Amino acid sequence: MEPIHAAVVGTGNIAGLHAEALRRLGDEVRLVGAVDTDAGRLSAFCDRYDVPARHPDLASLLAKERPELVHVCTPPGSHHELALGCLRAGVNVLVEKPPTLNLGELDELAEAERRHGAALATVFQHRFGSGALRLRAMLDAGVLGRPLLAVCHTTWFRPQSYFDVEWRGRWATEGGGPTMGHGIHQMDLLCAVLGDWTEVSALARRQARRSETEDLSMAQVSFANGAVASVVNSLVSVREESYLRFDFERATVELTHLYGYGDDDWRITPAPEYAEQVLAAWRTGPAGVRSSHQAQFAEVLRSLRGGTPPPVTSAEARRTMRLVAGVYASAFTRRPVRPDELGADSPFYRRMQGDGPRW
Ligand SMILES: NC(=O)c1ccc[n+]([C@@H]2O[C@H](COP(=O)([O-])OP(=O)(O)OC[C@H]3O[C@@H](n4cnc5c(N)ncnc54)[C@H](O)[C@@H]3O)[C@@H](O)[C@H]2O)c1
Repeated sequence: MEPIHAAVVGTGNIAGLHAEALRRLGDEVRLVGAVDTDAGRLSAFCDRYDVPARHPDLASLLAKERPELVHVCTPPGSHHELALGCLRAGVNVLVEKPPTLNLGELDELAEAERRHGAALATVFQHRFGSGALRLRAMLDAGVLGRPLLAVCHTTWFRPQSYFDVEWRGRWATEGGGPTMGHGIHQMDLLCAVLGDWTEVSALARRQARRSETEDLSMAQVSFANGAVASVVNSLVSVREESYLRFDFERATVELTHLYGYGDDDWRITPAPEYAEQVLAAWRTGPAGVRSSHQAQFAEVLRSLRGGTPPPVTSAEARRTMRLVAGVYASAFTRRPVRPDELGADSPFYRRMQGDGPRW
């Protein structure tokens, strides 16, 4: 098996995690080059991870190294331009979350995928732990019954100094606050389990931090399957937690973690009359895989080899991004919002803050 040739653009914090995950995937993949506008960071990264080729920009990397997959690990404001550059060159791209600053940019990338025959995938690593796979399989098999209620709370803490980094907490460079940048992981898993959403009512506040964007949002979301969810995204919560809870007809399934989970972070409580059937399915489902970049990359590589769209596809990422846009649209217009109200004529299609923000 020939290794897939991968490259990294943006060699800051998260890029290190990408490089380590790729290294752990062994002979399946080889990191052939890297790009950063900061020469010092680029050089430290390439030295540390034995990356053979360093480039000052994407065009030179694509021309000289001809990678099959580019990992975009830059701040969100540059994702669209860099991903478009890859797709136009016919190169597959795996972009860190959020994939773009808004829905309009994401739709342009989806169009470029179709036109140039290359694929865009977004990093949402929490879909790939065995607990999430097991939950989704049980739901699909009808073991859990109908989903009724969900809780999706990302209550994290970031001090004021976190916002000193120039791209953070600004609409133009981060696209939003914890709704767009942090809780999006959990909202993506919520959507992966519950499917299409139909209405959102939300508020957003700048409760404690000096930033352009919100530091918390709260929403109630309805889904096409009839379930309703409470969604909270916060950066002001001193005891940090990522909590997901699904109340199905036949069981409650909970996930409590912070930045990644293993099997032990899940808890299932079956309704007494279904206990045997539910627990049997829970015990025999997928197991042993933590949610991680490595878990997602393994699936991306498998898809590229098999000729299927690598996960998380632009269509799947769009559903989550549209929920993010819906939270802002509802918060800043102070009314419930449906997904079909977020089309190209909506102010929230090109800017997550719409014409606002209106605090
Ligand atoms: N999946 C996760 O769990 C997770 C966790 C943290 C961050 N992220 C995401 O990863 C991305 C990067 O975050 P970070 O904390 O690593 O940022 P960072 O600021 O530490 O690193 C970004 C790097 O990109 C470089 N860069 C900026 N613009 C560039 C360009 N046009 N071309 C080439 N290089 C460029 C910078 O010089 C810097 O070295 C963000 O989208 C963030 O949301 C994801």
